[in-house]
Order: sequence, then C-alpha cells, then structure tokens
Amino acid sequence: MDIEYRKVAESELDEFRRIRLLALRESPTAFGSSFEESSVHPDEYFTGLIKVEDSDGMLCGAWDGNHLCGVGGLRRDGRLKQRHRASIWGMYVEPDRRGKRVGHAILDRLLAKARAIPELAIIMLTVEASNAPALRLYSQFGFVKVGTEPMALRVDGRYWDLDQMALHLGGGAHPAGNVP
Ligand SMILES: CC(C)(COP(=O)(O)OP(=O)(O)OC[C@H]1O[C@@H](n2cnc3c(N)ncnc32)[C@H](O)[C@@H]1OP(=O)(O)O)[C@@H](O)C(=O)NCCC(=O)NCCS
Repeated sequence: MDIEYRKVAESELDEFRRIRLLALRESPTAFGSSFEESSVHPDEYFTGLIKVEDSDGMLCGAWDGNHLCGVGGLRRDGRLKQRHRASIWGMYVEPDRRGKRVGHAILDRLLAKARAIPELAIIMLTVEASNAPALRLYSQFGFVKVGTEPMALRVDGRYWDLDQMALHLGGGAHPAGNVP
C-alpha cells in the first residue's frame, strides 16, 4: 500500500500516542522524553504535541491507511527573540519500515513546511551522537553538527552524548556572516 504523508489531526490522538510510546520504549536513547513518564501523561499532553499553529510548524505522519508508521515534528520557538528558529523533534519510523525512505519523506515535508514560513532562518535538532542512521539522514538534508552536549541522557545507568545540528535557511544578518 502507498504511504500517505500528511499532518496528524487531533482526532488521531490514539494512533499518535501509540507510535510515540512505541518510539520511547523501543528507542530509549533516541529521545529526551522517557516511556516511563510519557505513558502516564493525560490525553492533553499528546494533544499538545499534535496541536501546532500552521504558521508554527506541523506534526507530519506517514500513514499506511489508518496506521501511523512514522512521525516527525517541526515546531517554531515561541519567544519573540527566537521566532526565527524551529526544531525538528520526535522523528521515528517503525522498525519494519526503516531503510525505505519513510524518514527521508517525513523530513522532506517538514523542511518544505519550514521553508514556507518566511521568518524562519534556522532549524535545530538534537541527535544521540552515535545514532548513525539519524545522523546520516540529517546530513543528507544539509544539517551540520554545531556542538555536542556531553552526558545529556542517562538510560539504564549509561550516559549518552547529544549532538546539536543546525540547518541554515538563509536570510538575516549575523555579525560573523552566515553561520553555520
Ligand atoms: C532515524 C530514522 C527516523 C530514519 O528513518 P528511515 O525511514 O529508516 O530512514 P530512510 O530510509 O529515509 O533513510 C534515510 C537515510 O538514512 C540512512 N540510513 C537509514 N538506515 C540506516 C542504517 N541502518 N545505517 C546507516 N544509515 C542508515 C541512509 O543513508 C538513508 O539514505 P539512503 O536512502 O540514501 O541510503 C529511523 O531509523 C528511526 O526511527 N530510528 C529510531 C528512532 C530514532 O533514532 N530517531 C531519530 C531521533 S533524533
């Protein structure tokens, strides 16, 4: 069946919660949120992740019929001095769908959305520093590593570093020229 890429609607809360909790349980080192905390959050928490003003980003789903097999979000920063920034968050593809460019297609749509928001100048994301598939995916879209946060996560007694990556969309003046 063909996969359809579209915004996740608030009415699709149950399916989003299912894949989000699967992501946190199955790939605990890939996300800052934990399954333990998220699984007891009320509906409003998940609705809050789905809901985003059109001018502030989107939560993109990869749909196989009514089944959400991949997901990823773009969210613009809210504070006045940071409205030129947005983050990619929650990128996840179900294990049996990986390596088939589903992640690529989701990210492509999120970045198309970002480019349609005129004020956006830079997109940020964080990725666990040894997550080769994710690092490679983001690099393919032009994200570059701008820093590393040591020991940012502790999962099952082991520490994990997080790489920060940035994609500059152009525009705006910067004292050091266009960075990164
Ligand atoms: C990262 C993730 C979203 C990628 O989704 P995906 O649908 O498998 O990725 P794609 O098939 O679109 O692959 C995109 C690129 O990633 C790279 N890639 C995919 N799987 C890979 C692997 N196992 N090893 C190395 N690179 C890999 C490939 O270079 C691929 O490009 P190509 O098609 O030119 O070869 C998916 O692996 C995932 O959900 N992982 C667990 C959660 C996670 O790590 N999320 C990221 C949080 S920052």
